Amino acid sequence: MTHPAICLPTLIAHRGYSAAAPENTLTAVRAAHQAGATWVELDVQLLGDGTPVIWHDSDINRCSDQRGELASLTWQQAQQLDVGSWFGDAFAGERMASLEAMLALLNELNMGVNLEIKVNKGRDPIALVETILPVVLAALPAERLIVSSFDAQALARCRLIAPKEALALGVLFGSIPPTWRSQCEAVEAFSIHPHWPRLKHTQAAAMRRDGYEILCYTANDPGAFESRWNWGIASAITDEPEAFQRYLNNRRQ
Ligand code: G3P
Ligand code: MG
Repeated sequence: MTHPAICLPTLIAHRGYSAAAPENTLTAVRAAHQAGATWVELDVQLLGDGTPVIWHDSDINRCSDQRGELASLTWQQAQQLDVGSWFGDAFAGERMASLEAMLALLNELNMGVNLEIKVNKGRDPIALVETILPVVLAALPAERLIVSSFDAQALARCRLIAPKEALALGVLFGSIPPTWRSQCEAVEAFSIHPHWPRLKHTQAAAMRRDGYEILCYTANDPGAFESRWNWGIASAITDEPEAFQRYLNNRRQ
């Protein structure tokens, strides 16, 4: 069986259009769409009461008007937070997005998503996957979804729930470990998501030979990234989809 027929975009807006709007919010996804992006990368984790939310950090200190651990919040408490003002006055009153609301928006906009299962320290990868994956699979077609994680246990549990033809899995790496190949084979990965400055040309070539798509994060300087396109990179995950696209358009003229 093959993987889902995913048409990968050149650019994926990281945490939504996170250079233009507060990251991982509904507004950031709408901004990405308005800027012409067709896919976004988003982080998902659970509140203390088990509600899946779109959020990156283990705490709310950086991206809200309050302080504390995400894992100590209920959904009701999370909805009291202002998650927009930290980014700019124009975003005051933005609310934390539930996974459910985000999936509805992605469908409304017909956008694809690289959903990163964010297993922060002390959190249970199995509970996270068991809670979110059925919801995600029920909401999105396989052609508009890549689920990724740094966490091998989370990826393995995803693969137990959904076979290769029903779910594309991406393995996230910082530095590429010597075991990258066995890690990818273990979960029948569709793609590898390396931190782009640490990816070597020889590693990219081996990944492509093995049939993996390569999605690099987080590429914000299109000039510095330029040579990587010749390595067979499929997509750049970027905070700056608009500026990056402008650069690519000019280069092609
Ligand atoms: O999925 C790519 C990238 O988002 C991984 O790192 O910390 O930005 O979630 P981070
Ligand atoms: Mg992420």
